[in-house]
Amino acid sequence: MSPSSTPYFLTTPIYYVNDSPHIGHAYTSLACDVIARFLRSEGSEVMFLTGTDEHGQKVEKSAKQHNLDPQKFVDEVSKRFRKLSELMDFSNDDFIRTTEARHIKSCQALWKRISDGKTPNGQDSNIYLGKYDGWYSVRDEAFYDESELIKDTKNPSNYLAPTGASVEWVEEPSYFFRLSAWQDKLLEFYENNPEFVAPQSRRNEVISFVKGGLRDLSISRTSFSWGIPVPDDDSHIMYVWLDALTNYITGINFPEITSDKWNKYWPASLHMVGKDILRFHAVYWPAFLMSAGIEPPQRVFAHGWWTNEGQKISKSLGNVIDPEVIVRKYGVDAVRYFLLREVPFGNDGYFSHASMVTRINKDLANDFGNLAQRVLSMISKNFEGVIPYPQKNAECNFKSFETLSLSQNLLSKVSPLIHKQAFNEALDRIWEVVREANRSIDKDEPWKLKKKNKSGMGTILWLQAETIRNLAIILKPFMPQSMDRLLDQLNIPLDERNIVNLHEDNEGDICQKYSLRPDSKLPKPVAIFPKYICEFED
Ligand code: MSP
Repeated sequence: MSPSSTPYFLTTPIYYVNDSPHIGHAYTSLACDVIARFLRSEGSEVMFLTGTDEHGQKVEKSAKQHNLDPQKFVDEVSKRFRKLSELMDFSNDDFIRTTEARHIKSCQALWKRISDGKTPNGQDSNIYLGKYDGWYSVRDEAFYDESELIKDTKNPSNYLAPTGASVEWVEEPSYFFRLSAWQDKLLEFYENNPEFVAPQSRRNEVISFVKGGLRDLSISRTSFSWGIPVPDDDSHIMYVWLDALTNYITGINFPEITSDKWNKYWPASLHMVGKDILRFHAVYWPAFLMSAGIEPPQRVFAHGWWTNEGQKISKSLGNVIDPEVIVRKYGVDAVRYFLLREVPFGNDGYFSHASMVTRINKDLANDFGNLAQRVLSMISKNFEGVIPYPQKNAECNFKSFETLSLSQNLLSKVSPLIHKQAFNEALDRIWEVVREANRSIDKDEPWKLKKKNKSGMGTILWLQAETIRNLAIILKPFMPQSMDRLLDQLNIPLDERNIVNLHEDNEGDICQKYSLRPDSKLPKPVAIFPKYICEFED
């Protein structure tokens, strides 16, 4: 039943620990969490990895500003990202930190494999010692060519990175990765793997960047020490991006490439990243891997960025959206729903409290909450809270019967959308059925059957309750806590709340095979999505 029952390995970027977590970090991980939960629910084996990026100049600088030893500093800040996982209800299987011994070992092993290998011409070594003279941005942890810099509008004699970050001139001995030699192999790889970069517009950007010519990449630093020593030359530490990208293979046991975990999960199914870090994942990372004789990942999806009411989110502007604050205000599931519903995944998003409240009150409270509340309270009031037994199919000519079919066919529409990271479209499809369910109750008018056809009324409510069960199971990866509360209210056993427990047809005795059990006494209904009442300031 599942489109892919092969093991699925997905990763978030690992987060810099120079800063507290904000909505952007929560977003990348949330997208992965929904996929991970969905695929597990479909019966796939999933490995979901996240963690923190703890080396480099940026983190070293932040530690200094806090007057802390870098290790103490990263220990503290890394905890905040673990807490973010708890707050947002993320179901990651592992949390990796780049200061862990397993990761240091993995980075050094990868370096050795790269340096032992040769470029595609079979003659040059992949790594050589040289000197870097050029621009570096600590904020981006990236090297920039002079031609990429832009004029600082506030101070025209000054130049900035294309991202707007400040740059500094660096001159130091450095090891280089012979990226230039991998250009054709990369282009061939993109050609043979059209799904490797998504969305499509980002793929085009990557291809034209590589076609434009690649320069060798500096992959070690000597002017500071907060990093992983280069094997056999500890006067150098590894460039923080080589260190950070390697986390994806450390997380599944590299360099133990005979281990079960490695064999099961590499190549990764999906690296989820923000659009700002696509080049590192779609150009440098596959080149590093190919040069080490390791297969590149299957897919990199670059999502868009959130602005706060249209303004770039930044600490200096003081407009950072703290996930803890909005979760406290609106509830974790409403935040999860909003972030994936509001914009097509891949596009930039405009965060505003007004649109958050509209989503809560319209989609969650009015549409879905109301559907559940109507059905459950009619069962409570008219059937003493016991799920009514439905009539046989043949006798059913209620509109609610069609709605149940729609909810049964929903998975075949939603699943492919989740597999291609189209969350907003998936939620759209689900809401079409939610609205249809509400319309069908209005059409069937079960309240009018109370006296003359009680068993008809019971059938409608059973059909609707079963529809709600299907919807709740499909929605559970998006809103795990509220859907569990709803499934509790339908008395669905804990081990029957997965997609594998959905049924696809209405043939035969409709209630025999469903987990919604007629005659089961339900708890008193409680609203799952109350309306959000805006507080007005005086
Ligand atoms: N440490 C690197 C990643 C290394 S992965 C091998 C890094 N870290 S980060 O903490 O700066 O960013 C992590 C993720 O958060 C990125 O995917 C980035 O796109 C995302 N976001 C940061 N701000 C964001 C928004 N305002 N909106 C959406 N996502 C944003 O880069």
